[in-house]
Amino acid sequence: MLMNMKELLKVAYKHNFAVGSFNVANSEFVRVVIEAAEEKNAPAIIQIHPNEIELVGDEFIAYVREKCRNTKVPMAIHLDHGSSVKDVMRAIRNGYTSVMIDASHASFEDNISITKEVVKIAHDVNVSVEAELGTIGSNEGSSEGGADEILYTDPEDAKRFVEETGIDTLAVAIGTSHGQYKHAGKPKLRLDLLEEINHRVGIPLVLHGGSDNKDEEISQTYLHGIAKINLSTDMKSAFFGEMRRFLTEQQEAYEPDVIMPSARKAAQKVVKQKMDLFNSTNKAHLYFS
Ligand code: 13P
Ligand code: ZN
Repeated sequence: MLMNMKELLKVAYKHNFAVGSFNVANSEFVRVVIEAAEEKNAPAIIQIHPNEIELVGDEFIAYVREKCRNTKVPMAIHLDHGSSVKDVMRAIRNGYTSVMIDASHASFEDNISITKEVVKIAHDVNVSVEAELGTIGSNEGSSEGGADEILYTDPEDAKRFVEETGIDTLAVAIGTSHGQYKHAGKPKLRLDLLEEINHRVGIPLVLHGGSDNKDEEISQTYLHGIAKINLSTDMKSAFFGEMRRFLTEQQEAYEPDVIMPSARKAAQKVVKQKMDLFNSTNKAHLYFS
């Protein structure tokens, strides 16, 4: 079942769990996410970054929509880190049910003004909007990028930002970075700050850079307003790690049918563990009552 993300996150926010939002850049990952979600009876989001749409092409979204429309669990298709109105318009034309406008590198006032413009366009056609305040860090090898320095979200700014823009959900900076913390140590997430932001804004919040953080911290975030957790690197590295191992061991293998199942299974194992960690396992029924 394909849904608007606002409706998807409203339930998560109310029931203290987070919906996993997984980056896909080929059909294998679409299968990974949907099959894991159905097995876990969990809602899930498929998100596509502007770099990823360049890889797969616009037509790919028709396939993703068809797959999501036929799932037993609630799903949304979301633009990850859209950087311009053009990215947003392209996503809407392609049939995404949700978009992110990330103007977090612009000044506060410019961020408000571009986000407002996107909200007007998107809400007119029943597409939900995520925006970002503060900056997510960037680790080596991360495909989603990020800032060199993390600027933590200010709770008072967050309140004003949400009120002025009318967004449906806000991505907050509480210490995470995109990618795996290979050289840098794992950060200590500012859960105190998250609590304060949640208290002030009262709308579902988003955690970017969901990979490679401490499980005991992640499991606190959805108790304080995080209703969506973005996850890319942990899932993709499981997939490609297994593919590398398989191809080295089986020198003669060439058909995708032979290679893909083991890689898919490795990625699915990660996705299913994350669904348990995010407390979204067995939550699909909440959308049908
Ligand atoms: P990770 O690659 O750290 O999981 O982050 C994903 C993300 O935030 C995409 O927007
Ligand atoms: Zn991100």
